Amino acid sequence: MAGDVTIETERLVLREFRRDDRESVHKYAVDPEVYHYMPWGPNSEDETSAFVERAIASRHRDPRLHFELAITLRETGRLIGGSGIRAAEESFRTADMGYCLRRDAWGKGLATEAAAGLIGFGFEQLRVHRIWATCDTRNVRSARVLEKAGMELEGTMRDDTWLRGQWRSSRLYSIIESESSQGKAPGQAGSGETRDRASSWGAPRKESRP
Ligand SMILES: CC(C)(COP(=O)(O)OP(=O)(O)OC[C@H]1O[C@@H](n2cnc3c(N)ncnc32)[C@H](O)[C@@H]1OP(=O)(O)O)[C@@H](O)C(=O)NCCC(=O)NCCS
Repeated sequence: MAGDVTIETERLVLREFRRDDRESVHKYAVDPEVYHYMPWGPNSEDETSAFVERAIASRHRDPRLHFELAITLRETGRLIGGSGIRAAEESFRTADMGYCLRRDAWGKGLATEAAAGLIGFGFEQLRVHRIWATCDTRNVRSARVLEKAGMELEGTMRDDTWLRGQWRSSRLYSIIESESSQGKAPGQAGSGETRDRASSWGAPRKESRP
């Protein structure tokens, strides 16, 4: 299913990337604190441009399974990060998600709000049954975000990713649709205002998977 997507939360609008977002994306894509646990970065300008172009192109896939969305502030429209949710083959009814924020936006609960918005979109619009996410075992902030968004820790995947010359281990989190409808995912109310059903994380990835 192709189509533009907008996810609105209390303070955020997650929207499709545009070509004029390139500069804002590049600012966080070269920040070592932002890309430290990510599979991309530091990005060259070409890599950031290629990311934005891929995100734009993904809108035209049908069925659309991959939703790479800019995180913007509802009040000012400022782009503060990227997020994404990617459904597996439609019949599998699972999706994975991720997010990153520029550093000056950290510590205000915004990533948790974005994560809750993605979860709402995944269950209500993509109609998936299970949503999962991983984070580096050292990435305590992201682990906290996933917990606050209502996800449950399934375990640790030991040395699952080769990143910048070393193996990293990841924590695996998930949430099941029944847990979401029981209100396990806080902040989800008002999160699923989408213009279309759709189906990546505002992250200028060099690789196709985090
Ligand atoms: C991870 C990230 C998205 C968090 O964004 P954020 O908006 O600051 O997250 P929130 O404010 O919603 O929540 C952060 C939580 O981590 C906690 N935290 C912050 N620093 C911490 C630390 N050093 N140790 C433990 N917890 C910490 C905060 O207190 C908060 O929890 P609380 O609400 O219970 O107090 C942001 O730091 C980021 O973009 N990092 C770089 C990219 C990245 O790592 N993305 C995730 C990949 S899996």
